[in-house]
Amino acid sequence: QASAMGHGDRFKFEELAWGNDATHHIADGYNADVLLRWGDPITADAPEFDVMNQTAEAQLKQFGYNNDYVGFAPLNAEGTRGLLCVNHEYTNEEVMFPGLGRQDRDGFKGMTKELVDIEMAAHGGTVVEIAQGADGKWSVVRDGQYNRRITPLNTEMTFSGPAAGHDRMKTNDDPTGMSVIGTINNCAGGMTPWGTYLMAEENFHGYFWTDNVDAEGKIVIDETNPEAASYKRYGVPGRWYAWGQHYDRFNIDKEPNMPNKYGWIVEVDPTDPTAKPVKHTALGRFRHEGAETTVASDGKLVIYSGDDNRFDYQYKYVSDGVVTDDKAANSRLLSEGTLYVARFDADGTVEWLPLVHGNGPLNALNGFNDQGDVMIDTRMAADLLGATPMDRPEDAQPRGDGTAYIMLTNNTRRKPGDENAANPRADNAFGHIIEIKEEGGNHSATRGTWDILVKCGDPAVAEVGAQWHPETSENGWFGSPDNCAIDADGRLWISTDQGGNWGKTGKSDGLYSLETEGEKRGHSKLFFRCPVGGELCGPYFTDNAETLFLAVQHPGTDGTRDLVGFERDSTFEDPATRWPDFDPAMPPRPSVVVVTKQGGGKIAV
Ligand code: FEO
Ligand code: CA
Ligand code: CA
Ligand code: CA
Repeated sequence: QASAMGHGDRFKFEELAWGNDATHHIADGYNADVLLRWGDPITADAPEFDVMNQTAEAQLKQFGYNNDYVGFAPLNAEGTRGLLCVNHEYTNEEVMFPGLGRQDRDGFKGMTKELVDIEMAAHGGTVVEIAQGADGKWSVVRDGQYNRRITPLNTEMTFSGPAAGHDRMKTNDDPTGMSVIGTINNCAGGMTPWGTYLMAEENFHGYFWTDNVDAEGKIVIDETNPEAASYKRYGVPGRWYAWGQHYDRFNIDKEPNMPNKYGWIVEVDPTDPTAKPVKHTALGRFRHEGAETTVASDGKLVIYSGDDNRFDYQYKYVSDGVVTDDKAANSRLLSEGTLYVARFDADGTVEWLPLVHGNGPLNALNGFNDQGDVMIDTRMAADLLGATPMDRPEDAQPRGDGTAYIMLTNNTRRKPGDENAANPRADNAFGHIIEIKEEGGNHSATRGTWDILVKCGDPAVAEVGAQWHPETSENGWFGSPDNCAIDADGRLWISTDQGGNWGKTGKSDGLYSLETEGEKRGHSKLFFRCPVGGELCGPYFTDNAETLFLAVQHPGTDGTRDLVGFERDSTFEDPATRWPDFDPAMPPRPSVVVVTKQGGGKIAV
């Protein structure tokens, strides 16, 4: 371990040993405490969680499922009180509901309307006040005036930008094309410089239903439907959930335009529970992984957002105006600006191509009648501009100096011959990370340079083709970078999501520090690891860098049949772990973990 702590290492912690077991682990000298679990009451009038007697009414006042993005909006100058903003990406019915196994794909036959309502209430987001005690420990303030759930069951939202009110946004329940109920598959996100919370809608396609299937059960798209081409490019309808059997708004046979109302970035003001969340269509429609913001050196708001799909693209949004102290004016920056898509050239240049109606092929001849069409069909517009097909762009994190880090999680469908300079490995099972330096250190620049920071995977296996700093240990290398964060000292941290593939590495998902500067560039160390079958989301550092929030998603599920010692079904009755309660009557619960240094102080400094 001594070498990892040696000269030039800016991360002052002894790295954790890799492994995979029933609980979580943190590097020595730190506390990793469970702060919020699925079902925990988050309002004063919420009932205590009763896993055997769940109701939608209770779930609407309790912490949701599969916590992903975590943000924090301080409520006092010391940052010891604030609003935790958490996305609830999706649900695992087989671990949520006693007695329910994962049904075949023909409609989750065990999913009654009562269960569908509960899982809809478990999606979305949570805003909840938390406070740090004199002992340094954080706890939930149950009677916090801002505490609330945001869900696809009953939270009304509105639209801004070029697609707001567009004909293709009009539905039977909304002839204005200006409103929608709820948000779905909120993966990563971001906090704006003015303290609002951005929720990214990722795999929205999976929630839409059709009864139009052939004899083999394969989905048939009606070619006479004007949305047919768009459906195909976006994978609509996915039929992953039974919602469309109980709610017409998730059935494209009844509401063909409804998918156009999802796949956006949603802005929530955590300090105004009466304000409707806004879907900002100027940021484009795709499987938004996240929406991390920065203020460019010229004062403009810049947001990086990846489209998490094999061979899809990296995007960046630049506002027309500059960030000020005026919250309402700042929110308009999210509707007045330009969305760009990245082309990574072999000479190390990245060009940001504007997705603007009338630019090159983005015209009526190609089906784009106006800017609303360009935003609704962002992917198809980006196809025409010649953007670079990437290995699944997950989170992207800008740093104030004009640098951004792009997580490319993996893409085993890239075939030999289909490689490009920025995605150089065929059968890319472990992913890589790209570093962008925008021209002049200005995030609003339309060009910059790029480099590959690391190629992930085991450096001891030559055919993997990994690339790390040579002192990266067997503990420190990782696969499938997903979320990331920059701490107050400008240092990069990465969390992983190997999905069902972790059997290939034997490693649990976890949090790693990754050096970007100096002689240790490319050096990675393991700081935290998940219980078996969980993936790690968050991470989020408070402004003083003394608290780190992590989100452990779906413990006990992913890939747990694949490794000796964990040959379990991911069911309520027999999960691979019962983290964090370890109560035989309680399934594993997705939970937010709060990390602090023992005795206080900044993390890893
Ligand atoms: Fe929801 Fe791309 O991870
Ligand atoms: Ca993700
Ligand atoms: Ca992030
Ligand atoms: Ca993920």
